[in-house]
Amino acid sequence: MSRQMKLGAFLMATGHHVAAWRHADVPANAGLDFAHYKRLAQIAEAAKFDALFVADSVAAPTHDIASRMARSDHFEPLTLLSALSAVTEHIGLIATATTSYNEPYHVARKFASLDHLSGGRAGWNLVTSDNAAEALNFGRDEHIGHAERYSRAREFHQVVTGLWDSWEDDAFVRDKASGAYYQPEKLHVLDHVGEHFRVKGPLNVARSPQGQPVIIQAGSSETGRELAAQTAEVVFTAQSSLASAQAFYADLKGRLLRYGRSADSLKIMPGVFVVVGRTEAEAQEKCEAFQQLVEPEVGVALLGRMLGNFDLSKYPLDGPLPKLPLTQSGQQSRQTLLTELAGREHLSLAELGRKIAGGRGHYSLVGTPGQIADQLQEWFEQGAADGFNLLVPHLPGGLEDFANGVVPELQRRGLFRTEYEGRTLRQNLGLARPKNRFA
Ligand SMILES: Cc1cc2nc3c(=O)[nH]c(=O)nc-3n(C[C@H](O)[C@H](O)[C@H](O)COP(=O)(O)O)c2cc1C
Repeated sequence: MSRQMKLGAFLMATGHHVAAWRHADVPANAGLDFAHYKRLAQIAEAAKFDALFVADSVAAPTHDIASRMARSDHFEPLTLLSALSAVTEHIGLIATATTSYNEPYHVARKFASLDHLSGGRAGWNLVTSDNAAEALNFGRDEHIGHAERYSRAREFHQVVTGLWDSWEDDAFVRDKASGAYYQPEKLHVLDHVGEHFRVKGPLNVARSPQGQPVIIQAGSSETGRELAAQTAEVVFTAQSSLASAQAFYADLKGRLLRYGRSADSLKIMPGVFVVVGRTEAEAQEKCEAFQQLVEPEVGVALLGRMLGNFDLSKYPLDGPLPKLPLTQSGQQSRQTLLTELAGREHLSLAELGRKIAGGRGHYSLVGTPGQIADQLQEWFEQGAADGFNLLVPHLPGGLEDFANGVVPELQRRGLFRTEYEGRTLRQNLGLARPKNRFA
C-alpha cells in the first residue's frame, strides 16, 4: 500500500478561532461540556482520524482582556481523555503535560493508566510550558528559562520512559493456584539519580498495551528540535509555508541518524488551520464571519501570548510590531515565525493579531474540499509532512466540515485510510512497540 497521511484533530473547546465562542453555531460553554467533546470524538473517529490532540496550560489568563476571551475554563486533558476513552474504540488520545510543573512519577503513572484504560491509545505531548503565568502556581516568581526547561525535560523523559519499563510485559502472572502475583525477576527498579530528579521506582502500573504511550513533542527551536530528534515519535510544529515546512522536515529527519534512528520512527505533523466551504466564496464568507467578531485588543492579546508572553497593550494598535527580545518563557520558534510574517506583509499590530486570530500562525487553508486536499497532498508528497494536526475555527461545525468534505476527498485519492489498520495508536501511526530496556 502506498504511504498515507496521518491526521490529528487538535481540539480546542469552542474552536481555534479566538472569537469562535461568540459565533451563533458554537456552544459558549464547550470547555466544560462533556457531551460536546463526546460528539467531537465520535465525529473524528468516524472519519478515521489517528488521534485527538488536547493542548494545555496550568494557568488561567488574568490580564485585562482575558475576560473577553474563552480561555479561562476548560477540562484538564488527561481527565477529559480518560472519559473519552470509554466512549471511543479506535482513536488515539493525546494529552499535553508539562515537564516544568509536574513530577515524572505522576506523569508516567497517569499516561500508563490512560494506555490501559483505552486499550493502547495514549499519547503524551511533552511540552516545557510556553505560558509564563504557570510559574506563579508552583511556588516560583518567574518561569524557568528556556535552556533550563529543556534540560529538565530531557531528564524528565528519561525517568518517565524508565518507569514505563518497570515491569516486563509478562511480569504479572497473578496465578491463584501457586500464589505468585508477579515474577520478581521481571521487575526492574529504576533507581534514577540525576541533576533534576531522584526517583526510585518501580511504577505501580504494569507495562501498558503499547509498551510505552506514544511521545509527541511540540517545540521547534534549535534545542526543541534536538530533544525531538532524540526522544519524540511525533512532532507537532507550526510552519507558515511549504518551503519552511520542507526545511524543517529535512532538518529534523536529518538529525535522527545521529541517534541511530530511522526516518520512519518520527512522524512530522505540522498544524494546519482549515476553513471548508462548498465553494471558495462560501469558505471565505465563513472565515470572514469569525474575523468580524475579533476585537482588535483581543487579537493583540492573543498575539502577545503567542510571541512569548509579552504585554503589547501599551503599543498603538495601528503601529508596527515593536522589537521584542528573544522570549525565554514562550515558544522561540513561534516568535520567529510571527515576527517574520509581520515584516514580510508589513502588518500593523492589530492586523497581525487579526491575521493569526484563527490559525495562530499555522498554515491556513480556506477553500473547497478539493482545494484543501490539493494543498495537503502537495505538502505530504513534497517532503513537508507525514500528516497534519488539524485546527478548525469552530467546533463542532469546522470538524464536521472537514470530516464530511475533505476526508472523503483524501480517501478517494488514496491518501488517507478508510479503516483503522490496528488497535493501538502506535499501530495506526506505523510506529514500533518499544522493547523493554531491561528485558
Ligand atoms: C505547535 C506547538 C504547540 C505547542 N503546544 C503547547 C501546549 O499546549 N502547552 C505548552 O505548555 N506548550 C506548548 N508548546 C510549547 C513547546 O512545547 C515548548 O516546550 C516551548 O515553548 C519551547 O518551544 P520552542 O522550542 O519552539 O522554543 C507548543 C509548541 C509548539 C511549537
